[in-house]
Amino acid sequence: MTRAAVVLAAGKGTRFKSDLAKVLHPVAGRSMLQWVLSALRPLDLDRVVVVVGHQREQVAQQAGEVGGLTVVTVEQHEQRGTGHAVRVALEAGALDGVEQILVVPGDAPLIAGAPLAELFAAQPGNACAMMSTALDDPTGYGRVIRDNTGQVLRVVEERDATPEQRAIREVNTSMYVFAAAELGTCLRGLRTDNDQGEEYLTDVVEPMAASGVVAVAAPQRSVGGVNDREQLARAGAELRAMMLSVLMRDGVTVVDPATTYIGAECVVGPDAVLLPGTHLEGTTTVDSGAVVGPNTRLVDTTVGAGAQVTYTVATSALIGPGAQVGPFTYLRPDAQLERDAKAGTFVEVKQSVIGAGSKVPHLSYIGNATIGEGSNIGAATVTVNYDGRSKHQTTIGDRVRIGSDTMLIAPIKVGDDAYTGAGSVITQDVPAGALAIERTEQRIIEGYAARRQARDDAT
Ligand code: UD1
Ligand code: CA
Repeated sequence: MTRAAVVLAAGKGTRFKSDLAKVLHPVAGRSMLQWVLSALRPLDLDRVVVVVGHQREQVAQQAGEVGGLTVVTVEQHEQRGTGHAVRVALEAGALDGVEQILVVPGDAPLIAGAPLAELFAAQPGNACAMMSTALDDPTGYGRVIRDNTGQVLRVVEERDATPEQRAIREVNTSMYVFAAAELGTCLRGLRTDNDQGEEYLTDVVEPMAASGVVAVAAPQRSVGGVNDREQLARAGAELRAMMLSVLMRDGVTVVDPATTYIGAECVVGPDAVLLPGTHLEGTTTVDSGAVVGPNTRLVDTTVGAGAQVTYTVATSALIGPGAQVGPFTYLRPDAQLERDAKAGTFVEVKQSVIGAGSKVPHLSYIGNATIGEGSNIGAATVTVNYDGRSKHQTTIGDRVRIGSDTMLIAPIKVGDDAYTGAGSVITQDVPAGALAIERTEQRIIEGYAARRQARDDAT
């Protein structure tokens, strides 16, 4: 059977009070729309139609970024209801030749593939298989009305419901699989005589009831239609808890799941340890045996096996295997620490390579620099890379000893095995094996303290 999904993503999300379209709001490392589309991936659909409206370019762009799906977008110029949105997709020809149509809202980030596969399996022989669930607090959702034999009759939106209907706890999740032919007929008959004056998709259930509507029970967490920011935060917590439990099952130690934040695209290897206050974002990867945290934020950063990263903020950095970072280190884009290298306390590194086994232990700025292997950079060294107009390169060789408080005025090269004297301002290249020292000779003024005391006593 030819199968397609329609994702409803045209609405603004009034209850969000946001300039950003609701489905674009990020939660646990992806937009809501991307979570929904990711859930569709395992279903082996012939086509995915995303109905766009508000901020349609951004919505379409995000939809295109989810791999493994054939996505087409259809524009709903005016948001005249969920039924209207599906009708627009049908009338645009986006569902031609399709026999089974799955409809999912773009604001349900907690949905997973398995319950949707169940819906597909339940539909044949019926006009519609819909997913419903009983909630302790059904406020805000459409209620499922059944007859006294248990047959589904229709769905009533809360704002159109009688007090008796509002007491019903079984709600519509807004996920359905329809027989395409019947859906077309019923959508064309939709009316707008409801509280919002919209074409409700829920209103196709009643005319379909004669030819069969089955309700499939959803796992509670899949309902999660997110309509406001409070529900967004709750969905985020649930998604994070799910991702962390997958990590723990795969052999990652998460010391405190309540304070560990991990994005959907992050990867963590077995025997890695995530300490409290760890935030992994974007495409961050942590290899096996690495220890991250406490209180560390890594964005698009790679941490090699066995590395230790503590009290650190890093963006687009590459931390090699066995490397040590922190405490209180700032790694900016293209900071690259090779195997067993170190960036220590109050060290900032940007667009630089710190070679294998080289160390920058304290209070330093390393920018636009290449440091070879086995070198040591003394405390408070600065690569002076910026002349007020452009950035210049510092190149330091292997086994170099840079003395504390050295200013390396770039562009500059320090050869292998060279030294610089502490407190030097280095403006000329240092040849291999040489010592460069730049400071005035020290003077000793004998008896100074006693003479000064005598002067003070006289006045
Ligand atoms: C909908 C259901 C309700 C169900 C609930 C579950 C209807 C009428 N109601 O209500 O029964 O319990 O979901 O979460 O279907 N959208 C469009 N175009 C439109 C209108 C909406 O694309 O013209 C999109 C929205 O962007 C959103 C989705 O459809 O992603 C659902 O719309 P929303 O307004 O959130 O519906 P609910 O009031 O939550
Ligand atoms: Ca909703």
